Amino acid sequence: MSEKISVMISEQEVSDRACALAEQIARDYAGKTIHMICVLKGGYYFMSELSKRIPEDVPVELDFMSVSSYGDDTKSSGIVRIVKDLDQPLEGKDVLVVEDIIDSGRTLYYLMDIMRGRKPASLRLCTLLDKPDRRERDVKVDYVAFEIEDKFVVGCGMDYKQMYRNLPYIGVVELTED
Ligand code: IMP
Ligand code: MG
Repeated sequence: MSEKISVMISEQEVSDRACALAEQIARDYAGKTIHMICVLKGGYYFMSELSKRIPEDVPVELDFMSVSSYGDDTKSSGIVRIVKDLDQPLEGKDVLVVEDIIDSGRTLYYLMDIMRGRKPASLRLCTLLDKPDRRERDVKVDYVAFEIEDKFVVGCGMDYKQMYRNLPYIGVVELTED
């Protein structure tokens, strides 16, 4: 088997949407400091796109967390494990979690529960992609860059077998017989 990748959402579209969302987030957080949390590895690209477009009058702090919920397959294992925890406490902070994609919702359902337990002043979720048709757990998503249909995608931080995270666009993976 080998894979072929076709463009679903272009680099320009991702960039334009990140700009628009950053403006909306900056308005919503006016007068506050955004404590942005990147869910590694997939969320790093989008957090970078988003955070650099928040104007300096809305301060942004960054922290990182790594969880593992996927093997090298395209299906969720259902097992979520914290691989790297946050460096800073969340108590009293206005926390914005940034993810690459919400699929079954299992990862974020678990993560948001952990974060809520750390008593932030507020807790919101922003994702580059949402696949609502695949949802198994009820997760409230506050900001979505793009809703997509049930296709396996790569690029902008997302991988297939740890590859293609670096693609500047969002692509669909099609597996072909060699
Ligand atoms: P969930 O727990 O099923 O919502 O899946 C969450 C994680 O699975 C995401 O943060 C991604 O890392 C990964 N994932 C889900 N769908 C895709 C996809 O289409 N391409 C790449 N990774 C995906
Ligand atoms: Mg992810």
